[in-house]
Amino acid sequence: MPVEKGPICGILCDMEVHNAKVSDAKAICSLINYYAEHDKMLFRSLAEIYENLQTFLVAEQEGKTIGCCALEVIWADLAEIKSLAIDSENRGKGIGTALVTAALEQARYLGIPQVFALTLEPRFFERVGFTVTRKEDLPMKVWSDCAKCPKQSECDEVAMIRRLGDDVSQSGEIPVQRSLWG
Ligand SMILES: CC(C)(COP(=O)(O)OP(=O)(O)OC[C@H]1O[C@@H](n2cnc3c(N)ncnc32)[C@H](O)[C@@H]1OP(=O)(O)O)[C@@H](O)C(=O)NCCC(=O)NCCS
Repeated sequence: MPVEKGPICGILCDMEVHNAKVSDAKAICSLINYYAEHDKMLFRSLAEIYENLQTFLVAEQEGKTIGCCALEVIWADLAEIKSLAIDSENRGKGIGTALVTAALEQARYLGIPQVFALTLEPRFFERVGFTVTRKEDLPMKVWSDCAKCPKQSECDEVAMIRRLGDDVSQSGEIPVQRSLWG
C-alpha cells in the first residue's frame, strides 16, 4: 500500500520508503550514531540494529539510505517511534514526514491505536500530528532505554502522542513494503 503523496513529491520523486533489509543496517547505524555524537539520540550498536531490523523503515534515494525510523510495539494499544534520523544533507525535504507517515501506517495495520515518541524535536512531531502528553502517563516499559541514557534524571525529551483512533485499519493489507514517491 503506497503511503500518501506528500509535499516532497517534485523535490524527491525518486525517493522510496520501504521496510529495512540487512543491506541497510550499516547505514542505519551510521545515521543514528551521527546524531548520537551530537547528543540528539542514543547510540546503537550494529548488533542492536540487526536484532531490531524488522522494526525499521528506511528512506532510499538512488541506492543510498538517507533516513530511518523504527516502530516498536510496547503493548496492545501502544507503539513507539524511535531512531528517527535523516541524513544531514537531506533534512527539511519531507523525508522525516514520509517515514513517520509510513510508521503510522504500520501501526494502523497492526491495529495499534496510539503511537508516541520521546523527542528533542517536538515542533517536527507537531507538524506530523502529534501532541504533547505527560511522561507519567506512559507505561513503565517505555523507560527501559533510560538506563542506557547518560542524561538520566536530567531528561530533556518531550513525550508526544498521536491517537489513530478510528483510523486503525481492519484491512489486513501489508502496509509498507515498497512505496514509490512520484
Ligand atoms: C527531526 C527530523 C527527523 C525531521 O526530519 P525532516 O525530514 O528534516 O523533516 P521534514 O522535512 O519532514 O519536516 C516536516 C515539517 O516539520 C518542520 N520541522 C522539521 N524539523 C523541525 C525542527 N527541528 N523544528 C521545527 N520544525 C521542524 C519542517 O519545517 C516541516 O514543516 P512544514 O510542514 O511547515 O514544511 C530530522 O531533522 C532529523 O533527523 N533530526 C536529527 C535527529 C533527531 O533529532 N531525530 C528525532 C529523534 S525522536
